[in-house]
Amino acid sequence: MTTEAKILGTRLQGKVAIVTGGGSGFGEAISKRFAEEGCKVIVADMDSVGGERVASATHPHSMHFIKTNVANEADWEQLMENTLAKFGRVDILVNNAGTSYKNKPTAEVTEDEFDKVFAVNVKSIFHSARHFIPNLINQGDGGSIINIASIGATRPRPGLVWYNASKAAVANATKGLAAEYGEKQIRVVGIGEAAFSTSFPETLSYPFPETTKMKSANAPSQLPRTPSAPSSAPQASSKPSSASPQQKKTSRNSCSMSR
Ligand SMILES: NC(=O)c1ccc[n+]([C@@H]2O[C@H](COP(=O)([O-])OP(=O)(O)OC[C@H]3O[C@@H](n4cnc5c(N)ncnc54)[C@H](O)[C@@H]3O)[C@@H](O)[C@H]2O)c1
Repeated sequence: MTTEAKILGTRLQGKVAIVTGGGSGFGEAISKRFAEEGCKVIVADMDSVGGERVASATHPHSMHFIKTNVANEADWEQLMENTLAKFGRVDILVNNAGTSYKNKPTAEVTEDEFDKVFAVNVKSIFHSARHFIPNLINQGDGGSIINIASIGATRPRPGLVWYNASKAAVANATKGLAAEYGEKQIRVVGIGEAAFSTSFPETLSYPFPETTKMKSANAPSQLPRTPSAPSSAPQASSKPSSASPQQKKTSRNSCSMSR
């Protein structure tokens, strides 16, 4: 019998979140941390084994797996329909699912590898804008979108040129969406991750001096394969804060690339 884990806080009580790529790595940690704050979480991943494992592990009554390929528009239609059928509303989207090819000379990257990186990392956000945002606007309560970019968006590294370029597109789209939908009370933020030892292919190979230095500085080898939950959940509450209207406007329209 699975025991429901403790609710540690109430910051996301009453909210419903979709976490793409929630079946592993950062997405797994985000899903669990959100549930610890009272959030209902849809774990949306193309990997059924990982997705089911996360959804049933710690908060089986608050989490639900929906098999989703974020690069596929029909899957977004199903994801939104099934999320609303399961939990009745939706407030938060974490666009976390991402992919890369293994670090290698850029002249050797194939067209299929390029297309896949842009489909999973960038086109997914295009699909989410068409299918998630209209639901938030219809609900009328505002909401949050958190896009997982990469430090490579602003500090591109050799051997991962098209991955970095895809994350730069994520960062730019994040700012554009924030500017466009802030007035609808939709907060859009980005997080620029550095290097962590998940199952992500980006971390598999660092043959260049610059990336080797970065790895030793930012991703100690002792890090677990699955990162532990962050000490505080991302600021995903859609409740208006007590800030002044001008402060509110600024914070809702900002894109914070933390690293
Ligand atoms: N790990 C790092 O060092 C690092 C650094 C910078 C940015 N990031 C970003 O963080 C995010 C999460 O990476 P991670 O390190 O947790 O990787 P991970 O490989 O552990 O997890 C990625 C998850 O996304 C899922 N996924 C992949 N393609 C998908 C698709 N088309 N549809 C639905 N799900 C899909 C995978 O099944 C997996 O569960 C990615 O966007 C990645 O670009 C990671």
